[in-house]
Amino acid sequence: MNETLRTIANRYSCRSFTGAPVENEKIEAIALAAVQSPSGMNVQPWQIVVIKDKTLIDDMDATTMDMLSKMDDKSLYERIAGRGGKIYYNTPCMFMIAKKEGTDLDCGIVAENIALAASSLGLGNVICGLARLTFDSEKGQEYAAKIIPEGYEFGMTVLVGYATNPEGTPHEPDMSKIKYIG
Ligand SMILES: Cc1cc2nc3c(=O)[nH]c(=O)nc-3n(C[C@H](O)[C@H](O)[C@H](O)COP(=O)(O)O)c2cc1C
Repeated sequence: MNETLRTIANRYSCRSFTGAPVENEKIEAIALAAVQSPSGMNVQPWQIVVIKDKTLIDDMDATTMDMLSKMDDKSLYERIAGRGGKIYYNTPCMFMIAKKEGTDLDCGIVAENIALAASSLGLGNVICGLARLTFDSEKGQEYAAKIIPEGYEFGMTVLVGYATNPEGTPHEPDMSKIKYIG
């Protein structure tokens, strides 16, 4: 197995970060990998916003959890409570992929590039779609004005940091999902 295949095989979703900051050179290497992603007709319909302000991330986390706690349906709140009570798992660094409308596939590829780049550098990471909820909260517009560039919309986030348990387990690949013809 080569280095690339090893990184793919060992990646897992990290749901507990120490909170220690990530070195700028690693963040910049990941950001570069993000904008090296392929896109339809090379339109690159994204902006990558790297949030390293942990106070802001923690504030967004608290606002979102507060919103979830007040919902009639508590299932999501309870699920996150069961994972430590933080929707952003104490991450010190959030990669926000802001995208142009209708470019979900391109955005997903960027998310995976970020996740694999982070894994290759020994950093925990998790693609976090629930971050969308933060922008539905009472402070959602305030956050969006700060984070999402004009003309773009929420695409996806990837949380990156040092894992509390760096020995996380990748999911078992389901070989029945593969079919060969010929
Ligand atoms: C589009 C997408 C959105 C996701 N959103 C979340 C999320 O909001 N919170 C979370 O903890 N994990 C999230 N995940 C991670 C998945 O739960 C995870 O990839 C899946 O359970 C497989 O586990 P693995 O990544 O460890 O292989 C998301 C993954 C994808 C691809």
